[in-house]
Amino acid sequence: MSPRLTDWSLALAGGLAFATGVWSLFSGAPEQWTVFAFHGAAGLWLLALLYGKLRRVWPRIVRPRRWDRRTLYGLLALAVVTLAGGTGVYWVAGGGGALAGYNALNWHIVLGFGLTGAIALHMWARAKRLRARDVRGRRQAIQFGLLALGAAALWPAQQALQRAANLPGARRRFTGSREAASFQGNVFPTSSWVADAPRPLDAGTWRLRVGGAVAQPFALGYTEVDAAGDELTATLDCTGGFYSAQRWQGMRVGRLLERAGPLADVGWVRFVSVTGYRWSLPLAEARAALLATRVGDETLVHAHGAPLRLVAPGRRGFEWVKWIVAVEALTAPDLGQILAIHWSSLTPAGRGE
Ligand code: HEM
Repeated sequence: MSPRLTDWSLALAGGLAFATGVWSLFSGAPEQWTVFAFHGAAGLWLLALLYGKLRRVWPRIVRPRRWDRRTLYGLLALAVVTLAGGTGVYWVAGGGGALAGYNALNWHIVLGFGLTGAIALHMWARAKRLRARDVRGRRQAIQFGLLALGAAALWPAQQALQRAANLPGARRRFTGSREAASFQGNVFPTSSWVADAPRPLDAGTWRLRVGGAVAQPFALGYTEVDAAGDELTATLDCTGGFYSAQRWQGMRVGRLLERAGPLADVGWVRFVSVTGYRWSLPLAEARAALLATRVGDETLVHAHGAPLRLVAPGRRGFEWVKWIVAVEALTAPDLGQILAIHWSSLTPAGRGE
């Protein structure tokens, strides 16, 4: 393929991998497996294109005397792409271990963001316009098509190979997450986005405020919520790479809403943590969610969000709000929640003061 077509294909594959990567962070429902399949295929396509680019620049790479600043940038970009893609493939294959306390998937996501920034900068500074002759010709089209289709075929082939060889990667969930302590109560791993670490809440004085666009706002104490005795089996799937299926007990959100009486134009329900962290669900989905005080018949521990956390089937772990103090009915989507989940760790409560 012409150098320009290769470069623009690399940018396209990188952009697709990034977009599906970010989308994957919000994808936890089984029918969303395609997001991860597209992501894997886009990432593998980028690695295949990289091989083509490498073949072209290799003569320069192996003669350091011919290097200039561009070569150094190119080598840096090559290292970041290889690490970003490599950590993805390593994780999918079941690769273990951690660096500075972070596993390969954590590093993959950080490198994925870094790489995308680097590609965008590189394209902005150096991209040359794609001309008709760069895309014309049967050979170009065949090469472009073969590489893209090859990558798309590589993903299912990789999954089948892993299953046939019974590689650890074959046991991962469609999200890439790995099973941890399912149906064993509180012992499953704890994680907190970004770094929320509030002080333990006293269940005796803790109150749950139910309000927003409702006819009857009210507040509940711990005993009332815990006594509701509703139950839900659901899988908590953390974007950090683990999942745990559990039986949760507490009160269904629908029960709260029935009592509060949401106004006619309510479309969302927001769950607010003591740290200011918050997330919302569409009304119908919220009704089926659970506010858990227990997991596997054990009282929830502080690290898992005691006295109350959200259990939202099909949502990723960071959407399962912990240390809940308020439930609010909303007439409009909460556009600020994506910021709140980042600054909550900076609040005095989020820092545990
Ligand atoms: C921006 C944020 C990103 C996120 C959240 C993300 C997330 C993920 C996840 C969860 C997996 C495992 C999927 C599975 O188990 O099937 C994965 C795999 C992978 N990702 Fe990313 N990724 C991101 C960016 C990127 C970028 C920019 C690239 C481009 C190099 C990339 C390339 C890959 C590759 C090659 C794999 C392995 C695919 C396979 O072996 O099937 N990712 N990524």
